Amino acid sequence: MTDVTEQDSGAGSDRAAHLRERMVAELIGNGDIVSGPVEAAMRTVAREVFVPEVGLEDAYNAYDAVVTKRDGNGNAVSSVSAPQAQAAMLEQADLGPGMRVLEVGSGGCNAAYLAELVGPTGAVVSVDIDEDVVERARRLLAKAGYPRVDVVLADAELGVPEHAPYDRILVTAGAWDVPPAWFSQLVEGGVLVAPLRVRGLTRTVSLALADGHLSSRSTRLFGFVPMRGTGAHDGMLWELRDGEIGLRFDDVFDGDPALLKDVFDGERTDVWSGATIGRTELLATVQMWLATALPGFCTVVVDKARATGVVSLPGNRTSALGAVDGANLAYVTTRATDDEDLVEFGVHAYGPQALRLAEETAEHLRTWSRVHRGGPGPRITVHPAGTADDELPDGRVVDKTHSRVTISWPIAANVAPGREALHHPTE
Ligand SMILES: C[S@@+](CC[C@H](N)C(=O)[O-])C[C@H]1O[C@@H](n2cnc3c(N)ncnc32)[C@H](O)[C@@H]1O
Repeated sequence: MTDVTEQDSGAGSDRAAHLRERMVAELIGNGDIVSGPVEAAMRTVAREVFVPEVGLEDAYNAYDAVVTKRDGNGNAVSSVSAPQAQAAMLEQADLGPGMRVLEVGSGGCNAAYLAELVGPTGAVVSVDIDEDVVERARRLLAKAGYPRVDVVLADAELGVPEHAPYDRILVTAGAWDVPPAWFSQLVEGGVLVAPLRVRGLTRTVSLALADGHLSSRSTRLFGFVPMRGTGAHDGMLWELRDGEIGLRFDDVFDGDPALLKDVFDGERTDVWSGATIGRTELLATVQMWLATALPGFCTVVVDKARATGVVSLPGNRTSALGAVDGANLAYVTTRATDDEDLVEFGVHAYGPQALRLAEETAEHLRTWSRVHRGGPGPRITVHPAGTADDELPDGRVVDKTHSRVTISWPIAANVAPGREALHHPTE
């Protein structure tokens, strides 16, 4: 890995220009860049200026983020996002000249793309909670020729009221909730694009604001560093068997972990669903369907260092989708079929009513296979907390601190094709 030198940095460098063209062509080929303005912005910005710690090849790798800061445990707390995620989010945001945009999370690079897209009559405000990140973004934006981007040091939980309202808000850190400021600082008809975590699953959703609530327009799958500050959310972890097995619940779940203390001491019940999935097919809709359908949905995580095989998963997998119901626990697994391209979903369950919970879970898998497999995925709406139940659409309601998120499943045939695109090569 070589550092970018004065000689090969900047939009004028032949090598950088060549790699930029290659990256843009790749993103067009994948369907991540679909519009002329996003293509033009990504062809224009000298991305390498924003990641001076890596060489040009890494700066223009379409699929990898460049981590720019880690915490004491080595976890990434800041990065310049992968070009693919940036392109997809810019497309989801549907930006135009003259718009006022708030970016939550500053790396400099994405703000430069935003500045290109809104042009000289628009405005870009980028907010970050981390002083180092803010200083770096300001310095590199000036160097790259974007001194008009306003980089603000603040916790984005409160937005940036002094420059509001915004036509677009792009959130580039993983969000668990939609705080009131993001509603109030967005114009009516404005769009919020955010990686929103619901039931432990993160989906990058483009949501339009109308009549006081947000409705999804498109969904993509990308991972981001988690939100810090007031909006940080850890969820809940139940540890079983001295920490060998963890059950992660992302939202409020009022079960009783004591009921599961000895759950693995009983016999295991297996139910095979007959529902299959391609080995390379995306798990996105089946994950979200189970998260919607199962009231006690959780993620079952195995600590590799302590694993005794009591939770048995194929290959090297150490986590599975699961559900808790009273003193019963079920998790989803797969097995090979006669067709080498397909695996079959099944359920392993423990507890006094293991068979009932396993059958119920298997039936949800069959429903997914029959009705939603390859379909448009769920529609997500976000209402402010306190919205009455009868004002919410039909669907699974997930209550957050500041908002009520509803996940509904339109039947594929009733939805215009392409309105919801769920595709990501790595998940
Ligand atoms: C993935 S990075 C941003 C990438 C950037 N948009 C780019 O150019 O690719 C996410 C950033 O969000 C910031 N962040 C996390 N929580 C925040 C909060 N509550 N308010 C503002 N920024 C926050 C982190 O400090 C981090 O720098």
